[in-house]
Amino acid sequence: MRVLITGGSGFVGQRLFRQLVEQGHEVQVVSRSPHQVRDRLPSNCDIRDSAQAFIESPPDVLVNLAGEPIAAKRWSDKQKAKLINSRVAATEQLVALCEQLKANGQPLPNVMVSGSAMGYYGAQGKRVVTEETMPNDEFAHRLCKQWEAAAKPIEAMGVRLAIVRIGLVLEAGGGSLEKMLPPFKLGLGGRFGSGEQFMPWIHRDDLVAAILFLIDQEGLSGAFNGSAPHPVTNATFTKTLASHLNRPAIFPVPAFVLKAGFGEMSRLLLTGADMRPARLEEAGFTFQYPTLDKALEAIL
Ligand SMILES: NC(=O)c1ccc[n+]([C@@H]2O[C@H](COP(=O)([O-])OP(=O)(O)OC[C@H]3O[C@@H](n4cnc5c(N)ncnc54)[C@H](OP(=O)(O)O)[C@@H]3O)[C@@H](O)[C@H]2O)c1
Repeated sequence: MRVLITGGSGFVGQRLFRQLVEQGHEVQVVSRSPHQVRDRLPSNCDIRDSAQAFIESPPDVLVNLAGEPIAAKRWSDKQKAKLINSRVAATEQLVALCEQLKANGQPLPNVMVSGSAMGYYGAQGKRVVTEETMPNDEFAHRLCKQWEAAAKPIEAMGVRLAIVRIGLVLEAGGGSLEKMLPPFKLGLGGRFGSGEQFMPWIHRDDLVAAILFLIDQEGLSGAFNGSAPHPVTNATFTKTLASHLNRPAIFPVPAFVLKAGFGEMSRLLLTGADMRPARLEEAGFTFQYPTLDKALEAIL
């Protein structure tokens, strides 16, 4: 099959790309700067600067992962708008591509797997969170809600839509773990605030497998939590990571320091949700890395 990925140059997209190519599929990548990302992707990769540029070779599958990194900068009003607009615009491009294909009488994709995040639920305290849980209305929720809503019109054209609410993606060489490792390796790691906030996480290979599962399973649509079945609190995450590195983790970072340093963005570190992949498990998806110990053992 032919798969078009927005954000194919990213941490998740690059792995998904390789997996698809290994399985013999053709992959198309939409990137804002095809020349700059070329060295991150295999040389035969077809990278173009818009989804519309692929109109002559319509994809069978769309995977939508593009977006301004959530923790790159403080959440000023301008940065918040960029976080939302980058995702909504990338999603709308895919909807527009389908509208154009339909207008031309060309075949439409069968399915779109579109990104979202654990932030959809907002801060949920100790409550177990499934796809049914009522979200807490805060910025992260509003961002994900608009991202998800932008994908919805694709369903009216008969394209199956599966949304993945992604947890913290773990693998070496990128993502959050890459940023956490240096202080932890120096024995300077520690919990954030009380450490009681949940951190839903997922090994990158399991996320890629879940995306492929959602592409394959024709009966699956709607929202799916993309995180391992055993989420941990920040304190447990800290302890587990430190023990895998044989280092102590005795320097907690007080909440007020994070709030002063990061403003509203500190909510990413100080709040969370005990998010469970209820619908993926119900559909028969099995995780290769169900526990943090297993994932970190493989990664480190
Ligand atoms: N990694 C995680 O822990 C995690 C957790 C929850 C949700 N997610 C979500 O899952 C998606 C994939 O994650 P990832 O870690 O692979 O993301 P990533 O590496 O940060 O970025 C994915 C791609 O998005 C594109 N992008 C970056 N800034 C953009 C902007 N301002 N406007 C339009 N496109 C932009 C870039 O592609 P080009 O430079 O080629 O255009 C980039 O390669 C993201 O949307 C992310 O928010 C990730």
